[in-house]
Amino acid sequence: MIRILIPIELVAGETRVAATPETVKKMLSFGCSVAIEKGAGLRAGFNDEDYEASGAKMISSGDKGVWGNADILLCVQTPSKNSLEMLRSGALLIGLLSPYGNTKLFDVLQSGNLSAIALELLPRISRAQSADALSSQANIAGYKSVLLAASQLDRYFPMLMTAAGTVQPAKVVVLGAGVAGLQAVATARRLGAVVFVSDIRPAVKEQVESLGARFIDPPELDDKPSESGGYAKQASEAFLAAQRQQLSDQLSEADVAICTAQVPGKKAPRLIDDEMLDRMRPGSVVVDLAVAQGGNCINSVPGETVNRKGVKLIGASELPCTVPNHASALYSRNLIALIQPFIRDNQIDLNESDELIDGCLISHDGVIRFSNMLNNGGVD
Ligand code: NAI
Repeated sequence: MIRILIPIELVAGETRVAATPETVKKMLSFGCSVAIEKGAGLRAGFNDEDYEASGAKMISSGDKGVWGNADILLCVQTPSKNSLEMLRSGALLIGLLSPYGNTKLFDVLQSGNLSAIALELLPRISRAQSADALSSQANIAGYKSVLLAASQLDRYFPMLMTAAGTVQPAKVVVLGAGVAGLQAVATARRLGAVVFVSDIRPAVKEQVESLGARFIDPPELDDKPSESGGYAKQASEAFLAAQRQQLSDQLSEADVAICTAQVPGKKAPRLIDDEMLDRMRPGSVVVDLAVAQGGNCINSVPGETVNRKGVKLIGASELPCTVPNHASALYSRNLIALIQPFIRDNQIDLNESDELIDGCLISHDGVIRFSNMLNNGGVD
């Protein structure tokens, strides 16, 4: 029987959990046992009794015996080095492991002969969609970013006709129309805002317009950034400068800017500079979802709201953690969709020639299979 372990998440501010009572039942149904550290789901609204009722075994945090026997550890963020050292040789770690430049993680995986799947690297092929944790979490971030902006804005979002006169709708500019950006567009439209969107991938124009927003065409330059696998490639400094020029007028009339522009494994493109902020109206709000990757907006700080001459810069790095119940429910279903196909006859079959496994298996029994690009994290 395959033994699955769910730890309590110890990274500060992390409220999500990698299994829910629903997914515990699923794991049992395909022949696994599930051990969960007591209190692991509390911050996400799942109590120990519900896990027990669904068939999980509740264990004390850091129980060496259980950690040392686990075949698969399902987590949200990377557990501490000390915790990982309790795992047996050959155990499989799966989570959002921040693989880019994470040399400390690779050291632990190598020395412990561990296998690991980093969900950030899941290939974007149709078969992998139900396991796509970046998308499920980005969707939440996009939705919550708009609610945050609306609650901080000194104006209404919708157009209103009242006895005291007409109120014009808020103007929202969304930078980056990936999963988070498109959800931000949809949420802002539901609240009645007028929405403009900038992205360097012309392919998203149709999606943006189908949500009732207007697309700002990328600058007409020869060195347009290309894309691969649905993701943008890094833009040149000349391109970004032309893009900032183009966005400056839009932002001078905006009430809200939602920044979601990212390039996997690279620093986020800097799209809003000091001059552009100077042109924004005091009382307007910038929510920077790319803040943990260096930020689309100058001076945004992770987890903080900076008041810059009346413009609120919100460095929104961990928005899925503010919706932990649904974030965990979706994340844990992503994990089930990922592991179910490779658990067969009580064996874990990590077939490296399978495109899906090949893309995200960063270590196999301690052999590192991923060369990193950018240093953005590590294990404690
Ligand atoms: P992401 O988080 O890497 O980037 C967000 C957005 O920022 C992207 O649309 C990107 O083009 C844009 N961007 C990058 N540089 C920019 C710049 N200088 N200015 C403006 N925008 C810039 O991307 P995410 O959200 O992970 O999704 C990327 C694409 O993959 C989306 O089109 C999405 O629909 C698609 N996708 C496909 C899946 C599949 O086929 N299985 C699953 C999930 C997403």
